[in-house]
Amino acid sequence: MPGPGRGPGAHGRPMQKPKNTKKTIFRLVRYLASYKLLFVFVFISILISSGASVASSYFLQPVLNDYIIPMIGQKSPDLSGFIRLLSMMFCIFVAGAIAGWVNSRIMLHISSKTLYKIRTELFEHLEKLPLRYFDAHTHGELMSRFTNDIDTIRDMLSQAVPQLFSSTLTVVACFVMMLRLSPALTLLVIITVFAMIAVTGIVGKYSAKAFREQQAAIGKVNGYIEELIEGQKVVKVFCREEASKAEFDTLNDKLCAAGTKANTLANILGPLMNNMGHISYALTAIAGVMLIIRGKMDLGRIASFLEYSRSFKNPITQMAQMFNGILNALAGAERVFAVIDEQPEVDDGYVTLVNANILSDGTITESFLPTGQWAWKHPHHDGSITYVPLKGEVQFENVTFGYEKEKTVLHEITMTAQPGQKIALVGSTGSGKTTITNLINRFYDASTDYEGGSKIRFDGININKIKKADLRRSLGMVLQDTHLFTGSVADNIRFGKLDASLTEIEAAAKLANADYFIRHLHQGYDTVITGDGESLSQGQRQLLAIARAAVANPPVLILDEATSSIDTRTEALIAKGMDSLMQGRTVFVIAHRLSTVRNADKIVVLEHGRIIESGSHDELIAQKGRYYQLYTGSFAAS
Ligand SMILES: Nc1ncnc2c1ncn2[C@@H]1O[C@H](COP(=O)(O)OP(=O)(O)OP(=O)(O)O)[C@@H](O)[C@H]1O
Ligand SMILES: [Mg+2]
Repeated sequence: MPGPGRGPGAHGRPMQKPKNTKKTIFRLVRYLASYKLLFVFVFISILISSGASVASSYFLQPVLNDYIIPMIGQKSPDLSGFIRLLSMMFCIFVAGAIAGWVNSRIMLHISSKTLYKIRTELFEHLEKLPLRYFDAHTHGELMSRFTNDIDTIRDMLSQAVPQLFSSTLTVVACFVMMLRLSPALTLLVIITVFAMIAVTGIVGKYSAKAFREQQAAIGKVNGYIEELIEGQKVVKVFCREEASKAEFDTLNDKLCAAGTKANTLANILGPLMNNMGHISYALTAIAGVMLIIRGKMDLGRIASFLEYSRSFKNPITQMAQMFNGILNALAGAERVFAVIDEQPEVDDGYVTLVNANILSDGTITESFLPTGQWAWKHPHHDGSITYVPLKGEVQFENVTFGYEKEKTVLHEITMTAQPGQKIALVGSTGSGKTTITNLINRFYDASTDYEGGSKIRFDGININKIKKADLRRSLGMVLQDTHLFTGSVADNIRFGKLDASLTEIEAAAKLANADYFIRHLHQGYDTVITGDGESLSQGQRQLLAIARAAVANPPVLILDEATSSIDTRTEALIAKGMDSLMQGRTVFVIAHRLSTVRNADKIVVLEHGRIIESGSHDELIAQKGRYYQLYTGSFAAS
């Protein structure tokens, strides 16, 4: 796992401004556009609930002016009109509440569905990205696209968007009503609202900075915890518990300080707004009373106006406080879209692998039923199609490659593996063995941008012309780091061939000599593996990986140090199984063990990305070169 330098991005995202707000908003709107009809309902329900809140303030005037004030002092007042008015108010309240509920339910539905769609697109696209992309982005960073960023979008869609709608409506309606009741008092309210927005802006600016610091501190603490959990064994081996605790304390102290600062500011804002609201309310009331004294106003009007001014101010301050959240969510959406827009792994291959009938005279015809024989279907410019039997010949010609432009890892590698040959790649660590296998299956592409450019041919066809899926289908690989998925043992082997029957799976396991240990697991082939096969030993995991490659039954097999963590007795078993697995296949094997290397048809010795020697075991020993040194030195030791 990548450790240092992961930064806050992995866990907590610092507050970031979107780079192109308009574009991101349009893109989000496009997602929402498929819910046009639902938005009509959302709009209607917002209209009703905002209308209800405006109406309740409106009724205050007739309630006071027409009923309560005239009734003061009356012995037996006629309450029927008053009750009618109250019942109407009650009905409006109920309608408003129902509309509010409907609105939030629909928005929840829309936002969940939209996020579902975005998440699916994100995942599907991630699967299409080239390995290069994963080299340049940490796991944590990509994970936070699915967690933090999607979460901020959810908050925005389900809360901020409807809030924005209803707030705008309420604000406009209240403004109109206030103007009708008293333009002078409206001016007073507007002035106080501007003061409140200014204060929110100032405090918000400082608190955004403090929150950024808090997010960064959270990121560091989380990153440290994650690293420590992963490296728990190393910590214990070197008795680093105390030291790591001290390091954690330092990070934790920083988080505590940053958190206090950020939240102090944020907590001030609420009460500050409330108090400013109260003051403005009181000022408006005083001004109103003065107007009454002068006979320019009545009590009902003032009461109504005060209610409107409250409904007018609340959404404005709420929106001001939500502003940072919206910016944050837009920045999150932008990051998600950036991944979705990332250039996928290009596959311009047009040569495909097809079932074939190969007759004794060499003629090949395509078959649409499985025949057990395969051929490359190669369409040409003139419209003709040729078929080349799948044999498993691999040729490297002047292959030069670097993961990064500045650093060349392989230098002009030229070698040929005849069908059925076993090629052993040896060399010290970092010499480029795994890199060679990465090029054969086109995890990475060799550079062709120089004179006499790199060419890799598979059965005589440039692998760049072969469709990637078909190329990879013809290659079996046991990677240096075995990876198992959550599922049963049988499922994990079946990964190599999805339609494999249980008999095929067992046969493959037997071939890899994995059958014996699998039968001793408590539920045999049905034993469920979780967490990347942590309950299995390294050797067992590798045996499963070999079985997985075996079940696919490919003509070319690549084994990257597949036998390195297996004891000598098991190794002998595997060697036997492997020999039968290797029968009739071209095999590239990377191994540190002499027994695996020794009987190879050709041994290729690599040093700093160059082939320095190649030949059979006996030839290389006779040469007394690097292989001889390796053989008499490190090989003897291992
Ligand atoms: N994904 C990558 N991005 C950048 N550089 C890489 C990457 N993978 C390997 N390298 C570099 O390429 C060089 C060759 O690595 P490679 O994995 O091919 O070595 P190897 O011969 O398989 O070593 P080992 O015996 O340790 O497995 C090394 O210098 C390594 O640092
Ligand atoms: Mg390697």
